[in-house]
Amino acid sequence: MKFQGSDQYIATPDLMLAVNAALTLKRPLLVKGEPGTGKTMLAEEVATALGMPLLQWHIKSTTKAQQGLYEYDAVSRLRDSQLSGGEEAARVRDIRNYIVKGVLWQAFTAEQPVALLIDEIDKADIEFPNDLLREIDRMEFYVYETRELIKARHRPLVFITSNNEKELPDAFLRRCFFHYIKFPEAETMQRIVDVHFPGLKKQLLAAAMKTFYEVRNLPGLKKKPSTSELLDWLKLLVAEDIPLEALQSQDDKVAVPPLVGALLKNEQDLTLFEKLVFMQRHNR
Ligand SMILES: Nc1ncnc2c1ncn2[C@@H]1O[C@H](COP(=O)(O)OP(=O)(O)O)[C@@H](O)[C@H]1O
Ligand SMILES: [Mg+2]
Repeated sequence: MKFQGSDQYIATPDLMLAVNAALTLKRPLLVKGEPGTGKTMLAEEVATALGMPLLQWHIKSTTKAQQGLYEYDAVSRLRDSQLSGGEEAARVRDIRNYIVKGVLWQAFTAEQPVALLIDEIDKADIEFPNDLLREIDRMEFYVYETRELIKARHRPLVFITSNNEKELPDAFLRRCFFHYIKFPEAETMQRIVDVHFPGLKKQLLAAAMKTFYEVRNLPGLKKKPSTSELLDWLKLLVAEDIPLEALQSQDDKVAVPPLVGALLKNEQDLTLFEKLVFMQRHNR
């Protein structure tokens, strides 16, 4: 099984190498990178390319590792026990009826090999990755309520993404293959844009890309716009039929681009950008 990118997803050679290394080692692939650099989409694309169903687990600050294994629904059991019908009574007696399977359980017991995405692991608290070490390593876990051992029938292909908001524990890192998605250079970005907007006029694209990288390289930005922001912005430029001239300033100085709200998402960054434009106009 080899991953070679897809029609919708541009994978650089080092990214393809990382995916295939994780496949060979049978270890989770830990993908880091700025938001919007295609981490989540990578898991979707690899799963599609390899013909595997993808199970997704989106992590929040309140997510606990146990939820990925199973949860015991005591509330439903109590409620059922208060309804006194004969059928309910039989149901209530068997605790297995109140064990809710988590996404790891589903991945472990699936008929065919599956891909499993643990998305934005850095959102959870610091214990979360450590709490999953054994499950990810041994591909098994124990259900105390029913005294059952759940073992993976097939080793799932695991993707773990992180936006780098928190450091991950060393013991966890040791078990993963790591890849950092660098922000795409102009040439790669051009290919990504082509995938999304095949018919875009060359000149408009060139001018938009120039503006985009100017904005991105502005020193002191709190939040740099990334791939998904560029794609949104291009979509708007096309939808609003913005003329090429609006993107090109005559004197080769930076100007505030139209629909800049697609690129800069907070007032400090906007102010910073406007100040720069103002200073340039007045310091000739
Ligand atoms: N390499 C790429 N090829 C094609 N589209 C991409 C690529 N990288 C990012 N994108 C676009 O950017 C969007 C955001 O990607 P996403 O996977 O959600 O980023 P992340 O999970 O890193 O925040 C995707 O929906 C896709 O449209
Ligand atoms: Mg994502």
